[in-house]
Amino acid sequence: MLNESLLEQAASKLHGITDLVAFTGAGVSAESGVPTFRGAEGVWKNFRAEEVATPEAFARDPKLVWEFYNDRRDLLADLQPNPAHDTLAELQRRFERFTLVTQNIDGLHALAGSRNLLELHGNLWRVRCTGCGQTWETVGEKLPAIPECESCGALLRPDVVWFGEALPEQVWNEAFTAVSQCEAILVVGTSAVVYPAAGLVEVARRHGAQVIEVNIEPTAASESADVCLHGRAGEVLPALLEALRTQGSG
Ligand code: OAD
Repeated sequence: MLNESLLEQAASKLHGITDLVAFTGAGVSAESGVPTFRGAEGVWKNFRAEEVATPEAFARDPKLVWEFYNDRRDLLADLQPNPAHDTLAELQRRFERFTLVTQNIDGLHALAGSRNLLELHGNLWRVRCTGCGQTWETVGEKLPAIPECESCGALLRPDVVWFGEALPEQVWNEAFTAVSQCEAILVVGTSAVVYPAAGLVEVARRHGAQVIEVNIEPTAASESADVCLHGRAGEVLPALLEALRTQGSG
C-alpha cells in the first residue's frame, strides 16, 4: 500500500518548481528484469567485481570480462522499459529543466524516451577501442567473444566505467552542475553507496534542493531525504505523477 500522505507531501515539494534532477540506479530497471548489483539476488553475489569489472581484470583476462558483458548484453537484449522509466520520461515533459542522471548502463531510460540523460557509468551497448579510442553504438548486436576494432585492430572494451576508473569528465561535470542548480532531486532505486556518483545527492542537498527518495527499503541516502517513498519504483513513480497532476489541477 502506498502512503498517500507521503505521496502528497512529495508532490507538493515538486509542484511549481522548474528545475528537477532524477538520480537513478539499478532498482529502476529491476521491474524490467535487470538484476540489481547488491542484495540477495544481486550481480555481485555471483561475480566478484574485481574479476570482471576492473581494468586489471581486463588486462589479465579480456575473454572472461567479455563473457560477463556479453552475457549481460544477451540478457538485456529482450528487456523493455517499465512504468518507472516511462514515468521519468513523462516527468521530463512537465518541468522546464529536467536532467536524468543515471548510474545504469542498460540503456532503458533512452529506450523509454528520456532525453537530457547523463549516463555516469557509461553504456553497455557502446564499445570503445583500447587502441584508437573510437566508440561505436552496437545496440542489440551479437559481438564476438573477443571483439576487435575495425579501424586499428586493437581490442575493444565495453564503454562502461569500471571500478578504479574515473567517470567520464564531461558527463560528470554536467551532472555536478545539474545537481548544484536543481530545486529538487528524485533519488530512485539506488543503494547510494558507490562514489563519486552517490555524492551527487549530498551536493544537491547542500545547495538547497529538496531530496525525495523512492526505494523498496531505506538506503544510505535516506537520512538526507526530506521524503522517503517506500515501494517499487514502477508503482510509486506513476502514483507520484498522478498526485502531481491532481495538485496541478487543484
Ligand atoms: P544496487 O544494486 O547497489 O542498489 C539497487 C537499489 O535498488 C537498492 O537500494 C534496492 O533496495 C533498490 N530496489 C530494488 N528493486 C527496486 C524497485 N523495484 N523499486 C525501487 N527500488 C528498488 O544498485 P546501484 O545503486 O545502481 O557500478 O549501484 C550503483 C553502482 O554499483 C552501479 O552503477 C554499478 C554497481 O557496482 C559500476 O559497475 C561501476
